[in-house]
Amino acid sequence: MTEKKKDRNMKKIIFATNNPHKLMEVQALLGDQLEIVSLKELGFEGDIPETGKTLAENASQKSHFIYDRYGLDCFADDTGLEVDALGGAPGVFSARYAGEKASYGENVTKLLKELEGKPDRKARFKTVVSLILDNKEYLFEGSVEGRILTQRTGNAGFGYDPVFLPNGYSDSFAEMSSELKNRISHRGIAMQKLVAFLTSKDF
Ligand code: IMP
Repeated sequence: MTEKKKDRNMKKIIFATNNPHKLMEVQALLGDQLEIVSLKELGFEGDIPETGKTLAENASQKSHFIYDRYGLDCFADDTGLEVDALGGAPGVFSARYAGEKASYGENVTKLLKELEGKPDRKARFKTVVSLILDNKEYLFEGSVEGRILTQRTGNAGFGYDPVFLPNGYSDSFAEMSSELKNRISHRGIAMQKLVAFLTSKDF
């Protein structure tokens, strides 16, 4: 942590996530300009409900859940993979495509199975971020177009990364450096918009 981050007057904002990978990603984008506070640091343990029918509803539900309890500025994100040949599935159900407690591997296996023999492999990742700042909500979106490979390629990343090939690249997300993925990915784009908004404010 830098000296500046220890500054008690520095603006703090909660990121309503339990995912340490996402926390690091956003703090890296923000640099020293704002301090991200995790749910763990806040003393919140447990799961935040996600019962919305859309990514925006879920992101909004998560940020409101924390804001209503703590009254502190916060943001939350929700991501889904939309596959054209599957009518947009798994979409908002991406985390539990193969079942309520499905692993990343089980979800990928199910996706590959559902797409067997289907020539249209077009897909996109979408992220929506909901920010609540001074009791007002703002939404930021990011998406990346690509296609689903017929088999896993690469070991980096998480989730559906080994089978997602972004348009214009010859590497899957799981073969890319985290820097490159963060620059071009759905969440990277949505977070870059959030960070541009936050850093334009005079805290
Ligand atoms: P979440 O809303 O960010 O938790 O994402 C829901 C699900 O989408 C995750 O459980 C992953 O399966 C998938 N997912 C989200 N972001 C990514 C990504 O960057 N790469 C691959 N899969 C992702």
